[in-house]
Amino acid sequence: MPRPVLIDTDPGLDDALAIMLAFASPELDVRGVTSVGGNTGLQHTTENALRLLHLLDRDDVPVAAGADTPLVRRDSRPATEVHGEEGMGGVRLDPAPRGADARSAVQLMTDVIEQSTEPVTLVALGPLTNVAALFAAAPRTAARLERIVLMGGGARILGNTTPTAEFNIWFDPDAASRVFAGGVPVTMVGLDVTHSAVTTPGDWDPLRGGGRMAEALLGMVDFYTARHVEWSGSDRTPQHDSLAVAVAIRPELVTTRHLHVDVECAGALTRGMTVVDLEGLSGEEANTDVALEVDGAAFAQLLVGRLAELDARLGA
Ligand code: BDR
Ligand code: CA
Repeated sequence: MPRPVLIDTDPGLDDALAIMLAFASPELDVRGVTSVGGNTGLQHTTENALRLLHLLDRDDVPVAAGADTPLVRRDSRPATEVHGEEGMGGVRLDPAPRGADARSAVQLMTDVIEQSTEPVTLVALGPLTNVAALFAAAPRTAARLERIVLMGGGARILGNTTPTAEFNIWFDPDAASRVFAGGVPVTMVGLDVTHSAVTTPGDWDPLRGGGRMAEALLGMVDFYTARHVEWSGSDRTPQHDSLAVAVAIRPELVTTRHLHVDVECAGALTRGMTVVDLEGLSGEEANTDVALEVDGAAFAQLLVGRLAELDARLGA
């Protein structure tokens, strides 16, 4: 039976691929998508989510808008240099025939979790503002989640936004800290594994000459890869958010350790750092399954294979 999932996201180019992977995968039953400000503003991330679902012929799945700004910080800046001003790397997707759901993101999450006969997995691909808001507004509902699989942080590879912080955690450290401490099982898919979950331009050859989904996707991949080449000098581009979805599909793609994780909210140099107690020094109880190794080849094969199949199903 497919696993019921909610996706919280800030599309965002790698978010877009991750959303495609989720809808391409029979193991997952996506019951709702919630948007959050992060890579770009909420107005764009919500619109992008709606347009992506329209591209995938999934206007039936509710999309609800969440928080535009972090819980506390007012100095977080978007990652528009990586994703473009509007978040889709300049790729123009057709408008959706609908707007966002009338419910808030927290209300949609609450409804999906409460109405599901099976526990729901929440896949979080952006800053954790909406997820922390769910814990605050409806703690008993949040406690019914099967698990949160989140893209964020790092245990040994610490930063891509500052030397010690990954973007999603850096953007809203207060929210992240509450989510790790929230008592729901968490799998942390951080930079330790996403930096080894890469695609190169040649990996996308199976989609060249494909349908409209492939055309949009290749435009996104080109922009995202070019930014990565500028940043790192390499075209081996991490597909951060797709790995989190892939872990929800096939947990065995990563090797995890159950460890205590906390987030530095106030540090002058280390704001947004995930402090992962690899050596058990804190005396704190483990609260997170931290992904430390990944089968990168199996991941890339899953990602490209599933997206090619979905594009073929959607046709021209
Ligand atoms: C994360 O930051 C965002 O820019 C990406 O979408 C991903 O969720 C990687 O650090
Ligand atoms: Ca993201």
